[in-house]
Amino acid sequence: MFEKHVYINRRKRLKEQLGSGLILLLGNEESSMNYTDNCYPFRQDSNFLYFFGLDRPGLAAIIDIDNAQEIIFGNDIDVEDIIWTGPLQSLNEQAELVGVSNVLPALSIADKISKPLSEKRKIHFLPPYRADNMRKLSHWLNIPFDLLKISSSTALIKAIVEQRSIKTTEEIIEIEKGVDITIDMQLEAARLAQEGISETNIAGIIHGIALSAGGNLAFPTILTVNGQILHNHSQGNILQKGQMLLCDCGAETSMHYGGDLTRTTPVDQRFSTRQKEIYDIVLHAHEAAIDSLRPGVFFKDVHLKACETLAAGLKSIGLMKGDTQEAVSQGAHAMFFQCGLGHMLGLDTHDMEDLGEEYVGYTDDLKKSTQFGLKSLRLGRKLEAGFVVTVEPGIYIIPELIDLWRSQNKFPEYINYDKLETYKDFSGIRIEEDLIITDAGSRILGKSLYRGAEKSEMQPAKNSL
Ligand code: GLY
Ligand code: MN
Repeated sequence: MFEKHVYINRRKRLKEQLGSGLILLLGNEESSMNYTDNCYPFRQDSNFLYFFGLDRPGLAAIIDIDNAQEIIFGNDIDVEDIIWTGPLQSLNEQAELVGVSNVLPALSIADKISKPLSEKRKIHFLPPYRADNMRKLSHWLNIPFDLLKISSSTALIKAIVEQRSIKTTEEIIEIEKGVDITIDMQLEAARLAQEGISETNIAGIIHGIALSAGGNLAFPTILTVNGQILHNHSQGNILQKGQMLLCDCGAETSMHYGGDLTRTTPVDQRFSTRQKEIYDIVLHAHEAAIDSLRPGVFFKDVHLKACETLAAGLKSIGLMKGDTQEAVSQGAHAMFFQCGLGHMLGLDTHDMEDLGEEYVGYTDDLKKSTQFGLKSLRLGRKLEAGFVVTVEPGIYIIPELIDLWRSQNKFPEYINYDKLETYKDFSGIRIEEDLIITDAGSRILGKSLYRGAEKSEMQPAKNSL
């Protein structure tokens, strides 16, 4: 964990932001795989980690702003547990490390909440995403399950988003460690991308790299020869000559800050001419987007810049036609790029997504578009120094989408369907980098990783500024 003052200062700022009321933050419980004692690796809630730093199950905390109290609720283990787990540091000792001196048994939280509840004091809580925390909140606050999300505190969400969006120096160091482990995973995946090897084999080996660095995967690895399927988690193929392997992976450190990088490599030593043409179009869009990153610029505009670069490239090889800007403004490019350019990155891969994209990526003045393609852009708002974002343009040839749009005669003025038919077996290419927004522009995080079309190039990615 970070030093004590980091957590004390984060909570101090949160109290100042909200001014009054009682904040209730829930840690996560263990999550069972197939029976109670057989659990998935424990993952603490990121907001709990951010403010209270303790990485163990069964905790909750209250920050009573009006009465200047901070309490962590949880249980110490007894000898019956120690037989199985060995001794653990006491909760009092752990709480002391994050600057909290009040620790109470887990069950006493209901009592502690009942008084402020009966006095109709404001109790701020976050939208829960796990069933056991829904059950607890529903029980403690007497709110039906279905109403928990809309009853959560917008003020608390906005205060946390404001604070967590700007990464501090110690966070950037930790994210960069996650990115470096992710780069090791990428290099190993590229090295192993040879004819006859299975996707599962490579995915397992790079998972091992994340584990052996002391953390774990930040999200389920996407490692596939079917890169056109955006979040493809099936890994059943054996690599064949002529295919491309898309690897989108991320390691998180033991502190749970992570990286998120994508590379697409040829299974052969080289891309075919057709593959390289498309790869270079994605690379140009990637570079154009990175060159546009700076404080004060809307990420939505960076996304649109990338889309226009993709569309211009696709026009140059005859897959699109007509006015590029007009095509993008109408959404025709979304035949090839159906998702958003990137997202915030930090303790979560899609950082703070549990708090709601409308608060993390958008504002009261900038609402999310409903247009196909643009509606999947997770981050639209103005960039600020200290944001950490991904930039991940791609071109994805999805046969089902081609058939649908063609049957609907959609955008015939911008899409060359006859030529596109010949690309139906192409699959997809994505190139993804993690960047910190600086006062002057941006900086690519982590050690260098090849970005060019040839595996053998393995050249350092260039920093934009
Ligand atoms: N790399 C996975 C994602 O961004 O959704
Ligand atoms: Mn990503």
